[in-house]
Amino acid sequence: MKALAGAVALAPSVIRGSTQILGVIGDPVAHSASPAMHNAALAHLGLDYVYVPCHVLPERISQLGDAMRTLGIRGLNVTVPHKQGVMDVVDDLSEAARQIGAVNTIIHDAGHLVGDNTDAYGIAASLREDGGLESLPPKVVLLGAGGAARAILHAVLQDNGVEQVTVLNRTLDRAQDLVDELGAGRATAGELGDSEPLAAAGLLINCSSVGLAPNADASPVGDGTGLHDGLVVVDIVYKPLRTKLLQQAEAAGARTVDGLGMLVHQAARAFELWTGQRAPVNVMRQALLA
Ligand code: ATR
Repeated sequence: MKALAGAVALAPSVIRGSTQILGVIGDPVAHSASPAMHNAALAHLGLDYVYVPCHVLPERISQLGDAMRTLGIRGLNVTVPHKQGVMDVVDDLSEAARQIGAVNTIIHDAGHLVGDNTDAYGIAASLREDGGLESLPPKVVLLGAGGAARAILHAVLQDNGVEQVTVLNRTLDRAQDLVDELGAGRATAGELGDSEPLAAAGLLINCSSVGLAPNADASPVGDGTGLHDGLVVVDIVYKPLRTKLLQQAEAAGARTVDGLGMLVHQAARAFELWTGQRAPVNVMRQALLA
């Protein structure tokens, strides 16, 4: 399986006169895992597209719409630092992109550009498929209040069974601003390090970058106080895959979900929006692992 995925990921589709272009824009972009995932999926289904990384500087972002229309680029993923900037470039925003305040996917149809955000879909799909959560527990704790936390708070609040979300962040003001803007009266803010909200929670999601390599010995819950076996613990950090938080959660008897799921499912949704085909999620996951 590994050899197959590796071979697929490294061999781009055959490029013909009819091949359509997909890609990802970012600054930087060379580290992106998206080309490997998407090209593996395209090759697997034999679709006539190619997915390329494009290094786009912030001062050029206003020209992106013209570039897409001129070259007939079918779709783009958008990564740091352009997720807000492209909101002014597209003709329409999806409801998710509008509410989250960020675009990670652009779909181009005959000159018309729609900005969407598939990160919220990605976490919801990962909770369902990787975490086994058909519905979410009433009490949820999110760690972090940056861009990822915005999409995840939006996704969590789509579930009407969620009664209270506690957003804990190093900078309290930032958590408060997020809660005020997106909390819909069901979220409260607190400081990272407060373990009290964990006791009643059934789901904990780390949306901060704490634990990301090279600081892999750090955990957003310190020594792990408050973790318990009634929790599902998700870490969106996927380098390393088994973060300190996930190790602590496992030791406490909690169910754990690593960050590959959200990454793969947000990509799968974008793939489906562009190609109209169901994405081969396992092929994309194997390409990432390879
Ligand atoms: P992203 O778009 O990936 O969410 P971001 O907007 O830079 O990135 O947000 C990073 C999150 O990780 C923030 O919640 C940040 O906390 P602050 O709002 O206080 O900056 C959190 N974070 C990053 N490094 C941290 C650290 N060393 N300790 C605690 N929190 C940290």
